Amino acid sequence: MVTLLYVKERAKSTNLAGKVLHHYNTTRKMLCIFLITRFVKQHEYGEKMKPQRRFLFVAIVAFVLALSLSCEPQFESFQIQLQPGESAAVRQVTNFNRDWKFAKGGQKGAEAVDFNDSSWKAVRLPHDWAIAGPFDPNEDGYAGKLPWWGQGWYRKTFKLDKADAGRRVYFDFDGVMAFPKVYINGRLAGEWDYGYMSFRVNATPFVKFGEDNIIAVYVDTRNHGTRWYPGAGIYRKVTMTVNSPVHIAHWGTYITTPEVSDTSARINVRSTVKNASKSQAKVNIEVVLIDPDGNAAAVLVTRGVSIPAGKTREFNNTSVVIGNPQRWDVTSPKLYTAKTIIQQDGRIVDTDTTSFGIRAFEFTANDGFHLNGRRVQLYGVCLHHDQGALGGAFYTRAMERQLEIMRDMGVNAIRTSHNPPAPELLELCDRMGFVVWDECFDKWDKTADRFDPNKMPLEKYGKKQIKNLVRRDRNHPCVVVWSIGNEIYDPPTDPQGVTKERVKFMSDFVRKYDITRPVGMACCFSVQVSKGILDALDLTGWNYTRRYAQYRQKYSDKPIIYSESASALSTRGFYDLPLKGSKTQYSKEIQVDSYDRNAADWSDIPDREFNLMEKDRFVAGEFVWTGFDYLGEPTPYGKQARSSYFGIVDLAGIPKDRFYLYKSYWRPDVTTIHILPHWNWPDRIGQNVPVYVYTNGDTVELFLNGNSLGKRTKAKEAGTGYYGSIDKYRLCFNDVNYEPGELKAVAYKDGSEIGQEVMRTAGEPAKIRLTPDRKELKATGDDLCYILVEALDARDTLCPLADNLIKFRVDGPAEIAGVDNGNPLSYEPFQADYRKLFYGKAMLILQTKEGQGDNIRITAEGDGLVPAEVIVQSK
Ligand code: GAL
Repeated sequence: MVTLLYVKERAKSTNLAGKVLHHYNTTRKMLCIFLITRFVKQHEYGEKMKPQRRFLFVAIVAFVLALSLSCEPQFESFQIQLQPGESAAVRQVTNFNRDWKFAKGGQKGAEAVDFNDSSWKAVRLPHDWAIAGPFDPNEDGYAGKLPWWGQGWYRKTFKLDKADAGRRVYFDFDGVMAFPKVYINGRLAGEWDYGYMSFRVNATPFVKFGEDNIIAVYVDTRNHGTRWYPGAGIYRKVTMTVNSPVHIAHWGTYITTPEVSDTSARINVRSTVKNASKSQAKVNIEVVLIDPDGNAAAVLVTRGVSIPAGKTREFNNTSVVIGNPQRWDVTSPKLYTAKTIIQQDGRIVDTDTTSFGIRAFEFTANDGFHLNGRRVQLYGVCLHHDQGALGGAFYTRAMERQLEIMRDMGVNAIRTSHNPPAPELLELCDRMGFVVWDECFDKWDKTADRFDPNKMPLEKYGKKQIKNLVRRDRNHPCVVVWSIGNEIYDPPTDPQGVTKERVKFMSDFVRKYDITRPVGMACCFSVQVSKGILDALDLTGWNYTRRYAQYRQKYSDKPIIYSESASALSTRGFYDLPLKGSKTQYSKEIQVDSYDRNAADWSDIPDREFNLMEKDRFVAGEFVWTGFDYLGEPTPYGKQARSSYFGIVDLAGIPKDRFYLYKSYWRPDVTTIHILPHWNWPDRIGQNVPVYVYTNGDTVELFLNGNSLGKRTKAKEAGTGYYGSIDKYRLCFNDVNYEPGELKAVAYKDGSEIGQEVMRTAGEPAKIRLTPDRKELKATGDDLCYILVEALDARDTLCPLADNLIKFRVDGPAEIAGVDNGNPLSYEPFQADYRKLFYGKAMLILQTKEGQGDNIRITAEGDGLVPAEVIVQSK
């Protein structure tokens, strides 16, 4: 085997792949090295060069060197050359989300080719059958009161080209809830257990080329254990890949950057190649590294390697050092691309593209997290997998929007609690600049779909799941921690729980596939520290109330993250006076007061966590529970409600007051002035209504109807008592007596005014306002438009108590994907063309239609309100 590093130019282009621009300067240097090496070698082996050849050599070297020193870098483009007919030989990846049929229930015999599915519902993936409801008010709220429990079937007809006979056919499922069995033409082709894990099914032995084929997927959630709403069905995308018998294996490219500095970076590439043919294959593996500007940075070539028939081989350690790397960072997420090309007998048989980043990071024991040589405080949030009204169905745009909202608040870190995310989440985090705590499991019991531990010993099961997670995600620069679990008890409390041995072998499974990131776990039982149970972890996350103290004492050399903080509670728009005197003094109205004084009894209000993170600088930062409300776990109203109160943003994606508290603290350089509560208290005229202002300023003067109510300045230190930290982070005007009119906050920082904010008493609701998040959509069939719906009075003031029923009409190529208003108690369906406003607001989510570009007109009407209309465009 010859592994050779070079950079080359190709003059003429033909027909594959995008243009790859090539760094001419590097070529010259490499050419020099090559020539000199040859020259030296000839001397070593005593080969005598003829005097004319020696002269020519020296002349070429001198010429190339002179060029290198004198010229500005130039670029030249080349494309990968294909022989006629080769384009058909490389891989074809097909979006497999369209034209499925679905039916709930056992559907006996539905795997059979001739099964009659004409009465089934036509669906497009991603699909979550349970989100359509109805809610069952009598169910406990822990899993959202939605009908996720049961069986379902999906079927789809597809055709394969006759010309593809002899090629391999794979189906890649990003996530199916749960226990999917995949049948091709009536025969079981593959199955998986863990509902959150991506998996591949090899359909090759079962398909027919040039004819119709049937894929049928059976889904059964009945053995799935959960502590939240899991969704049900094929809830993430499916792709079909057809490729040559010799091809890059699934997740077969692994790129690491072991040495990174300001001036250079070493890039290692490992390629795993599968030879599914009946004879030995001899291949060349070529990896073109393309920098963020589209220029080829280097080419790595492994020549003439053999792979026996039916075998898969990993080729290690082709490596290159590049100069002036453009580093990936949360502040500037630069991405490189690796294009892998497999040649067999001089012909290209497979190509694949992998995105990666060059960055150096370290979790330190005494100074938190370092990225590219500087300390970065992690301002993180935990996110559950559901997307509110869309349920478990994963839409890239829905996720992107969540991340945009989090970014606006100052978030730079995401914890995928408590399961592997959709791959697109990581692609977005790579692109947008978030670091990710990538979590495999909650517990190791039936919440990981290990419902029968005897049939699924943890050692076997854990390895299988961890292998898929790590191999799938290990090229993402955003991923900085592998987590093997969350708050797992030890036996006998949890017989399937953590022991020293289990933590070790689960950690080692991760290390088998990646050693460039630490293995961690979210912990909360200090007693496990003294038992040595956590020994094998590289770092630990700790959930709530500074439980890491004991661990810190024992393992002073190991890094710590505050993997869950806060678990504060609130309902957007709801205020319940008088102010709450303790964190667990909840309202009697089954909503949680939004003065941000409540938390779960095991957790704390945000301000206490801010203060803690300022003191404990050895901790890398916090992951707040949670960025968004999610379906299920409606603490403290577990029986009555169907979705959580933990979110900083409500289930509809509308920020609560807390959003501005975090933003004011996490983004000190951005002006935030947020007044709460609302100013509509007809029953409290002359009575006390405290006013809080969340601002990045240090001082606020508050005016009511033009009269100053005084200036307040943030405390330098937290005071005593449970709420002692509040005055350090918020400006509280507790003695305000309500009169309708206008509240104005004027904020100052270091003595200078930074801005003003006004809140007015609203009159009766008079009209509707529609505000789409984007006006240009893509006609892909899975692009979404989020339209905020609000009630305004005649003077355009938001009506904070409005609860009008709003009806929607959509004309044009889009349909309603969901409606919501953020009310955890609402049993109105998410899939409807109407919604009641909740504290003045609601959200309408539109989904475009594939291939149908046109204007989309949305109208909203409500009794007694002037209707509103907005037009967005799908292209
Ligand atoms: C944690 C747990 C989370 C969630 C949270 C609510 O203990 O890890 O999954 O349940 O509590 O506060």
